[in-house]
Amino acid sequence: MIKQAIVPLAGLGTRLLPLTSVLPKELLPINGIPAIEYIIDECVDAGIKEIIFIISKKKNLIKKYFYHDKMYKDFLSKNKDPRVYNHYKRNLINRKMIKFVYQNKPLGTGDAVLKTLKLIKDKYFLMLLPDDLIFKKNCSKEMIKVHNKYNSSVMASMSVNKNSVSRWGIYKLTKKLSKLNFLISDVVEKPNKKKAPSNKAVIGRYILPKSIFSKLIALKPGKNGEINITDAIRLLISQNEKFIAHNFLGKYLDCGTMTGYIKSSFEISKL
Ligand code: G1P
Repeated sequence: MIKQAIVPLAGLGTRLLPLTSVLPKELLPINGIPAIEYIIDECVDAGIKEIIFIISKKKNLIKKYFYHDKMYKDFLSKNKDPRVYNHYKRNLINRKMIKFVYQNKPLGTGDAVLKTLKLIKDKYFLMLLPDDLIFKKNCSKEMIKVHNKYNSSVMASMSVNKNSVSRWGIYKLTKKLSKLNFLISDVVEKPNKKKAPSNKAVIGRYILPKSIFSKLIALKPGKNGEINITDAIRLLISQNEKFIAHNFLGKYLDCGTMTGYIKSSFEISKL
């Protein structure tokens, strides 16, 4: 059973400047709701019991968002606005399942994962990258079903334009297991167009084995001088760890870029 999820939140969010010069991108509203709440909702609906947020000192506002009791209590003692009351209640429930760990230097997603080493209890855990929002079908829930069926690691997958492969982790697929699931034989972080093994991209949902920590500890910085999770996954695959690419059915919104972020509120309001 997958019971724990981790969410790297320490990134600088430079692709969303100037909005992120003061506010963490995960608190920016998308259709009136801070982006991070969509990630929490996905986890809760997928049966996750504990969510580990990897933040940085600079992004302490994320923690504050869940612990702003005084302001809510003062307001609610004078004004019984049900909308505010319900939101406060929701925060109280959500924060019971959230733990915070710190990654104060932005050294990459792999380094962020390493910060959760002491907290991961089971053989597998879920990771969600908050820039990637997926609606209509709960991607994490579907991936947990795939994990339970094949007893393997799973990553979300989507076909992308050949000219944009250098923006993503790109898979090499070997075997079709079912309509939506494929065995992966390799994955490369942000390859150039000529070296890309396909146009199938990794999207930010991963079910990873605990054994990934031993690979991350030994890993040297890769693309962009960062410790990339993709490089550790690549190592595990080369040592015969089974990884499946799951072509998710939901609607994907890339909220990590300005154009994507602007479009996302409009897209969600149409759902
Ligand atoms: C990260 C991963 C990349 C993946 C992408 C999905 O990149 O490193 O492999 O394809 O998320 O959004 P980032 O968006 O942090 O540059």
